[in-house]
Amino acid sequence: MNAADRVIKIVCETGDVAHGCAKRVELEGLPPLAVFNVDGEFYVTDDTCTHGDASLCEGEVEDGIVECPFHQGAFDVRSGKVVSAPCSIPLKTYDVIVTNGTVAVELGE
Ligand code: FES
Repeated sequence: MNAADRVIKIVCETGDVAHGCAKRVELEGLPPLAVFNVDGEFYVTDDTCTHGDASLCEGEVEDGIVECPFHQGAFDVRSGKVVSAPCSIPLKTYDVIVTNGTVAVELGE
């Protein structure tokens, strides 16, 4: 993919998401996103669980693992990998750029 095919969208400020917490963000043209702060590192995934229509931002986050509030499936927010059933489909993750207190995602066109 060429650099010209990449689009950067600002998601939120780093100060909007406390350590160990998550924030749901809705941007035009994208599914709802979840921004996670794991020990000062920011990760962005889809907010909707791959098992059902749950907002992962409403789940518990511990050590980079988010537990879905509906059926307690879990994902590693750093990789999107499934950690616990009943989830079986990985969570979509986004390339994150943090600059000057701003969290952005880099998207392919
Ligand atoms: S909806 Fe998330 S585990 Fe079922």
